[in-house]
Amino acid sequence: MTDFPHAGVIGNPISHSLSPKLHGHWLKQYGLPGSYTAIQVVEDALEATLRALPEQGFVGINVTIPHKVNVLRFADQVTDRATLIGAANTITFKQDGTILADNTDGYGFISNLRQGAPHWDAKLGPAAVFGAGGAARAIIVALANAGVPEILLSNRTRPKAEALKAEFGTRIHVVDWVQAGTMLETATTVVNTTSLGMAGAQPFRVDMDNLRPDAVVTDIVYTPLQTEFLKTAAAKGCVTVDGLGMLLHQGVPGFERWFGQRPVVDDATRAAVLA
Ligand code: ATR
Repeated sequence: MTDFPHAGVIGNPISHSLSPKLHGHWLKQYGLPGSYTAIQVVEDALEATLRALPEQGFVGINVTIPHKVNVLRFADQVTDRATLIGAANTITFKQDGTILADNTDGYGFISNLRQGAPHWDAKLGPAAVFGAGGAARAIIVALANAGVPEILLSNRTRPKAEALKAEFGTRIHVVDWVQAGTMLETATTVVNTTSLGMAGAQPFRVDMDNLRPDAVVTDIVYTPLQTEFLKTAAAKGCVTVDGLGMLLHQGVPGFERWFGQRPVVDDATRAAVLA
């Protein structure tokens, strides 16, 4: 055990995670003593890992696939937003031995949008959300909290979108996947939360002809940074915000809690993570 705080990210697989670069950059930038490492944890080892890490000097961890939902079972305290989303990505091991679980994905999403599109106004019109997986849950909660008047939601597997509507309320309107493009007629905020367009995945093929030029368009996919979805939107005159910033911003609350300094997300942060 060392006398400086340790943090890290757990998941499986974990080698692709950009979080060590992100937190490593901030530790260096602010000259703080501390470490941040990626730790591969299989599902059966989750509880034992959560019990062992504080004893090894860990003050907290980020949590990624496949542990984001299961980790809630081992938390002593769960923040309201993590409860609502039903998953956690940021764990703090408190001095008194308790485990606090939080979810900063929605915070990261909104902060990225506000930084990339400072004129963005949630209340201006409906939001169109493509996809109803884990990322969509956090984004829908965040958009609703930000004040969007209505969320148009479309998912290839329609029942998953219906389930989110049942859970999160009447402000959600489900649109069939074959008609997903119609959401764009009125949407002033447009979000791809599916894996479509990611390098190695299938392309995003929804018809975007109806996209309004005054819409702010963002993608959670960040490999590549400029997805076809964002390129199509930019060609329509839309302000676009790439998905890397969501990852960077979601790391802010954890870093502040663990290392005592609120970090800034700027061009140097992006460069460090992309290097
Ligand atoms: P995440 O936690 O990143 O959201 P996920 O829960 O696996 O990951 O969700 C992936 C999303 O991408 C889902 O909305 C999924 O649609 P389904 O619910 O129908 O699976 C969507 N997705 C993945 N591949 C797709 C494809 N080929 N066509 C349409 N949607 C796809």
